[in-house]
Amino acid sequence: MSSRKPLIAGNWKMHGTIAETEERIAQMLPRIATSEHVDHAICVPFTALQAAVDSARGSLLNVYAQNMHEGENGAFTGEISAGMLTEIDVQGVLLGHSERRSLFGETDKALKLKVPAALNAGLQVILCVGETEDERENGDTERRLRHQVQEGLEKVPAERLGELVIAYEPVWAIGTGRVATPEQAQDALAFVRALVADRDKAAAEQVRVLYGGSMKPDNAAELLALPDCDGGLIGGASLDVDQIIAIVDACTR
Ligand code: 13P
Repeated sequence: MSSRKPLIAGNWKMHGTIAETEERIAQMLPRIATSEHVDHAICVPFTALQAAVDSARGSLLNVYAQNMHEGENGAFTGEISAGMLTEIDVQGVLLGHSERRSLFGETDKALKLKVPAALNAGLQVILCVGETEDERENGDTERRLRHQVQEGLEKVPAERLGELVIAYEPVWAIGTGRVATPEQAQDALAFVRALVADRDKAAAEQVRVLYGGSMKPDNAAELLALPDCDGGLIGGASLDVDQIIAIVDACTR
């Protein structure tokens, strides 16, 4: 039995005014107050971060950003640095989400710098990886995952690898209702962990690997029970408090 504590992280994407954020957090907090067996996070839009941090202060809920720049400051219009996030007590950051990769040109080369920059600033990191439908059909899933994990982790020292969270999110399962089968998910999650073991065996036992992609209350228990699944990264269902709480409750490890 693994000693890794499960993490249930909601990725709100571009949803949530400040008022909506405060209201959703107020509904969540009493319902997670005794769920200490799980780590809880929400990844909210930049404009709602401060309100989310203030609303969640002193609770079990951690607040993450959805992206950040690798530099400390500079001529990078529209970007936010790790220090700007920690200044307002944001606890973590989602990096390399497939929507950032496919729609906004996020590259493994940039992630190679973003991951250590976030860790050095004291942020918890969720690095997202995952193959497209074409890559899976062409037998390229492992090659894609290897590339994303190796590059993203390249500049992280071995002794810090275990702090990372890596979310395996097959692109074809995101927002589609087409969830990976338990076999597909377990194979990929174990493969991601094995890639970490190639760098450091002890870190591979500590690193948390999440599944993401159409995780819902009705499929969460089966996915969360997989040997290499240490939690979920949840999009659509995280916007509905009843659904995200049902997923937390499905987390029995
Ligand atoms: P859905 O849960 O809506 O499929 O989104 C998954 C996701 O992209 C989380 O980052």
